[in-house]
Amino acid sequence: MKNILEVENLKGKKVLLRLDLNVPIENGAIKSDFRIRKILPTIDFLQKQGAKIIILSHIGREKTNTLEPVFNYLKNKINLTFVEDILCDETKKIVEKMNNGDIILFENLRKYDGEDKNDDSFTKTLAAFGDVYINEAFAFSHREASSVVGLPQYLPSYSGILFKKEVEMLSQSFNSPHPSIFILGGNKFNTKLPLIEKFLNRADFVFVGGALVNNLLISKGLEVGMSLVAEGKFDLSGLLSNKKLVLPVDLVVNKNGSVVVKPVNEIASDEIILDIGHETILKLKKIIEGAKFILFNGPLGDYTKGFDRATSSLVEIIANSGAESVIGGGDTVACISELGLEDKIGFVSTGGGAMLEFLLNEDLPGIKALNNSKIKA
Ligand code: 3PG
Repeated sequence: MKNILEVENLKGKKVLLRLDLNVPIENGAIKSDFRIRKILPTIDFLQKQGAKIIILSHIGREKTNTLEPVFNYLKNKINLTFVEDILCDETKKIVEKMNNGDIILFENLRKYDGEDKNDDSFTKTLAAFGDVYINEAFAFSHREASSVVGLPQYLPSYSGILFKKEVEMLSQSFNSPHPSIFILGGNKFNTKLPLIEKFLNRADFVFVGGALVNNLLISKGLEVGMSLVAEGKFDLSGLLSNKKLVLPVDLVVNKNGSVVVKPVNEIASDEIILDIGHETILKLKKIIEGAKFILFNGPLGDYTKGFDRATSSLVEIIANSGAESVIGGGDTVACISELGLEDKIGFVSTGGGAMLEFLLNEDLPGIKALNNSKIKA
């Protein structure tokens, strides 16, 4: 991938900068600014180069979701204009009048059907606004959207500064120092099973927590009560006999409305698993303290019900371990920010689904599109 830092003259060039400003919003306010903070150096770099910056992003999954809260946040840090309708004639005029260093933020690309459909005429409309394309949206690069895989067909295309770092840092886990541990939580067992299998071949330990573990426990013949279980038939016998697989030894459960901790083999049919227990955290602590590399994605407890204790404890243990660490996933990252531990983690990825897909395939549609781009500057 050609990176934007390798480009010599961006002065006066209209740069289409694809960011992932898909940040959590609550009552019109930004709940976590992590993704925005991470791309500010890229905007600063382009402004110093004298580029005219046109920011493209989506937010949420609905056409009606707006980037306005992000605009309000950004305007306290940088001077920029918000353009609500990309397709109207006035927008062309606004772009034509841009001076070097000016910044425009286009409204949520998902307002237009063409974005998610990678519609060619929508891509051409976007491409007409720019001279150069930069993908600085690693976290969205698993999506075959117009602004990710379409634009590199029409413009000289480069990866962004953070994009390159994401690829480099996540790639460490393919050849990490040993001993290493991969900790995977959250749900979506169907999607994450191949990742568990892959890392059993790469890491020295693979710990599975969150709702993911429920299918494994059932396959071991254990009761998981009324906990969330992925549907489908899975042959997990090979996986369960792998000595590198680490499973919880105790669990926090909801027992008739009260929260209790129980050994993993004592869950009753009317109980719901909410988090991993203290004994399990101690077991993980021991492994982490001896590890040279830690990869962690997905919460270990039910975040939707506020069960974040195990995830927080683990983040603290990792931060204090001194080992190389790479952590990602929305809830896990929110936990790191709340604890103020971002600086003590080796690398915190902006990617959720994109991080998992990259870890599995060592590639993403957005990376392929940049590598296949034949358009010369
Ligand atoms: C993310 O937040 O993981 C990306 O922005 C992708 O968003 P999506 O799952 O709505 O496509």
